[in-house]
Amino acid sequence: MILEGSFPLLQRCVLATSKNGRNLVFYQVDLCNKDALEQVFTSHHFDAVVHFAGLKAVGESVAKPLHYYINNVNGTLNLLEVMSSYGSKKLVFSSSATVYGQPKSVPCTEDFPLQAMNPYGRTKLFVEEIMRDLHRADPEWRTILLRYFNPVGAHPSGRIGEDPRGIPNNLMPFVQQVAVGRRSELSVFGSDYNTKDGTGVRDYIHVQDLATGHSAALFKLFTTPNIGCTVYNLGTGKGTSVLEMVAAFEKAAQMKIPLRIMDRRPGDCSEVYAATEKAEKELGWKAQNGIEEMCRDQWNWASKNPFGYRPSHADGKGSKPVRNGGLSLRVSNATAVA
Ligand code: UFG
Repeated sequence: MILEGSFPLLQRCVLATSKNGRNLVFYQVDLCNKDALEQVFTSHHFDAVVHFAGLKAVGESVAKPLHYYINNVNGTLNLLEVMSSYGSKKLVFSSSATVYGQPKSVPCTEDFPLQAMNPYGRTKLFVEEIMRDLHRADPEWRTILLRYFNPVGAHPSGRIGEDPRGIPNNLMPFVQQVAVGRRSELSVFGSDYNTKDGTGVRDYIHVQDLATGHSAALFKLFTTPNIGCTVYNLGTGKGTSVLEMVAAFEKAAQMKIPLRIMDRRPGDCSEVYAATEKAEKELGWKAQNGIEEMCRDQWNWASKNPFGYRPSHADGKGSKPVRNGGLSLRVSNATAVA
């Protein structure tokens, strides 16, 4: 493995992949730097690309839309152009359930109307549309768009997990920081939704299941010449409320999480969960883990790594950031080229 600098996550990924890890090659390349990207494609031939790279904070995307469009859309355009010119036309892209906006009903099937509600969501939607246009113009492309629901949990070894910088935006990273004493309480955004207990309902999916969903998608790309540009939801098909998720975590960690009920968070919808039949039938994939396993592995990671990949310090000041939009192996903002 080639490491430009010492990223603990990469080293842990190599260990997690056992003997195959020795074959991994890593380049840190900004997708916005097309020349550098071309260099990678001149050094290797890629049978397929799995494209995870992207900024993903909804609030930040509202404040810095150009930053999001440049990174997520321009970066992807560069990747597609380079792939095309090097004859590499198989792609799995990380899309998001955010493209369903406020769905008219649940569960969301892949043919629901699309209506992203913030710049981050629009970058996902625009890339989806670009992929559909590209396939119409050049049927040699085979692409699968995976709409992730709410990824949580961590690698079962407890050595690889999500490590957000600053205040976490998402529920479970926040819960885990309360559990390890980095935050005093969890704000529950809204208790008056028309849901089972008044709190928001989502489809949480274990990251391990998300990973096997990608393997299934890659297999599909190689075995289905007429796949075209096809969308699959990656979710469990089950809706879980904020309070149910907190209760499951409390059980896994054997502790109480202090809560404060707050107003609804602007832009949140009440209830979203996936229809999973299409992925089950066509990819032969189904999520195996429930919220108990998700919370068990989340707590295993958090308790062993209370400050994420840093030895200490709550917000990682002084640590060397990995550039966003780069070609890198990261848990929540990554591109791996295979
Ligand atoms: N929530 C809290 N307190 C928090 C954080 C979240 O109560 O501190 C609640 C939210 O209001 C929501 C639920 O927990 O009801 C889940 O919120 P997340 O922020 O974890 O996830 P979202 O469903 O809002 O969004 C996530 C990703 C998006 C992605 C979307 C797809 O962050 O990138 O799922 O549905 F697009």
